[in-house]
Amino acid sequence: MDNLKVAVIGGGSSYTPELIEGLIKRSKELPVREIYLVDTQEGKAKLDIIYGLTKRMINKAKLNVKVYKTLNRKEAIKDADFVITQLRVGGLKARASDERIPLMHNTIGQETTGAGGFAKALRTIPVILDICRDIEKLSPKAWLINFTNPAGIITEMVLKHTNVKTIGLCNVPINMVKNIAKILDVDCNRVKIDFAGLNHMVYGKKIYLDGEDATTFVLEKMGDGSEINMKNIPDLKWDTDFINALKMLPCPYHRYFYMSDEILNEEIQGLKENKGTRAQQVMEIEKNLFERFKDLNLNEKPKELEKRGGAYYSDAAISLISAIYNDKEEIHTVNVMNNGAISSMPDNVVVEVNAVVSKLGAKPIAIGELPVKINGLVQQVKSYEILTIEAGLTGDYYTALMALSTNPLVPSVTTAKKILDDILLENQDYLPQFNIEK
Ligand code: G6P
Repeated sequence: MDNLKVAVIGGGSSYTPELIEGLIKRSKELPVREIYLVDTQEGKAKLDIIYGLTKRMINKAKLNVKVYKTLNRKEAIKDADFVITQLRVGGLKARASDERIPLMHNTIGQETTGAGGFAKALRTIPVILDICRDIEKLSPKAWLINFTNPAGIITEMVLKHTNVKTIGLCNVPINMVKNIAKILDVDCNRVKIDFAGLNHMVYGKKIYLDGEDATTFVLEKMGDGSEINMKNIPDLKWDTDFINALKMLPCPYHRYFYMSDEILNEEIQGLKENKGTRAQQVMEIEKNLFERFKDLNLNEKPKELEKRGGAYYSDAAISLISAIYNDKEEIHTVNVMNNGAISSMPDNVVVEVNAVVSKLGAKPIAIGELPVKINGLVQQVKSYEILTIEAGLTGDYYTALMALSTNPLVPSVTTAKKILDDILLENQDYLPQFNIEK
């Protein structure tokens, strides 16, 4: 297998140049010969632009890689070795409504966690299921690398309900490592973290520098104001006493759970000041990005892409693919079936942990129990995730209501009901499973 075919579903995404840069960087160890960029009719204009830039990047790197663009998903999936899903059902418009609807009910509106992430999951589950049915038929040996959010939920759905070989991936863990390396002012290869939790709910249980436990030192530094965050999350400072009590590294998304009232205030204030939700800001960033991508003289990933939350996306994705292809037995932080890795979680749920990655896939590394101080929250979010998958597959209103009511970011059943009804109405074109009467 030295002629790899890679299919990128959601190829018109503004993140694709990030991915292509990663493929170019690792071209010596990863013989990709064909890249298929796939998108839908609605995404065609963006796909055309990304296709042009991808070709220019590949030409500049003088690589022997054929680039294709297509609206025919099956053509792209057929005989692919790796399928990467990075799609957004309903586009940024749907993301804007995911962020807006909960806020209208005085509840946090975030695209991957809370009620916003729930709406996104309902829209995405049927589409990913369809893609998996294609993979089962047309490229049963392919690896699916899933970046599509909510990545933990989507990966669990695929692993439980299809025969597709899947690994779920997120750029949060790699960002945490890189940020800590920055705080310590060392090369990131010297920093290792024992990760445990769920996607966008992952904790660094222990942090090592050159193999020595540096957890306390790093957490103290965080208390000094060295913060770890990402571009898409409000930059709220962690409470020093909380970090001292937690004695673990929270991920940037934990702000939604541990600083819910401050985040909600920020979001409401943002609306009042007409800053718009993150989706609206991203629409603006994207407009400029695509203008930039169109420039025929541009043949590399432009700096402007750093305004997005997806930093190090390509590092995470392409190094993972290379670890599989080259049978590296290397440690990556991924979303996989727990299978005992976290002993206080069920075996058959997806967790985000370190795993040894080889051509056999990702084998999670045992990390023991979750300490009682985080166990409750993680278990609650996992229950929400399980219910969300069931609701997304069956279209059952009561299951959906239970899912939303179980989510710790939704304050009450009354609010859950209002939000759910708004979500179902707003997304009716994307939720065939709910049989909503128009
Ligand atoms: C982070 C998350 C991704 C998410 C992205 C959004 O990178 O890990 O899951 O898609 O942020 O960034 P954006 O720039 O679209 O707000």
